[in-house]
Amino acid sequence: MNVQTAASGAADAAPILMPPANLYRLVLTGFMGAGKTTIGRILAERLGWEFLDLDAYIESRTSQSVPQIFALHGETHFRKLESQALASALGRKHIVIALGGGAPEVLTNRLLLEQTPATATVFLDAPFPVLYDRCMIQALRAGSANSQPAPEDLRPLLADPSSAEARFHQRHPIYRRLARVTLDTSDLTTEDTVSTLLARLHLPQPRRR
Ligand code: S3P
Repeated sequence: MNVQTAASGAADAAPILMPPANLYRLVLTGFMGAGKTTIGRILAERLGWEFLDLDAYIESRTSQSVPQIFALHGETHFRKLESQALASALGRKHIVIALGGGAPEVLTNRLLLEQTPATATVFLDAPFPVLYDRCMIQALRAGSANSQPAPEDLRPLLADPSSAEARFHQRHPIYRRLARVTLDTSDLTTEDTVSTLLARLHLPQPRRR
């Protein structure tokens, strides 16, 4: 039996799953809007592991938002910070890491991901128009009631949709090659995505109540 109860006696506590002993890290990749943060947080909760969103980690290390880093220092500088943050995050165990969409483009990052033992990478896939729409909806929700997202709420690389789409196509094979599991999430609910991933990673599912 490899399902433990999070807190015995707490009727509504979600069961904590016992991952295989040779898996210490789950890394979620995919383009912007893939749901890496949302899904990663839930997976971490289910596994009883730490969750780390790489963009949020960079923001806390620099005290600047990602759009500010892009605007003030440029993408090259952001990529350096991202590689440093990834190396640091991969030093931890029992952790789910949500990468920024561009992290796998950098060779150093791919080597880090491939060479860190007990680490499984998951690619959350969806067609570009689906991802683009999700990001626009998120940006609109983050801002006030305007019909256009405010620039500070929009991911910097989405300001030009056609170059964002070109990046998507360039990255797609990289995401696929890196991943142990690829899942198209376009028609899946959050819960279906989580349970499908747990099954595909051969992690036990919590029993339905
Ligand atoms: C980027 C994706 C963003 C963030 C930055 C650059 C990219 O993260 O790292 O804006 O190059 O695709 P999300 O994928 O979490 O949006």
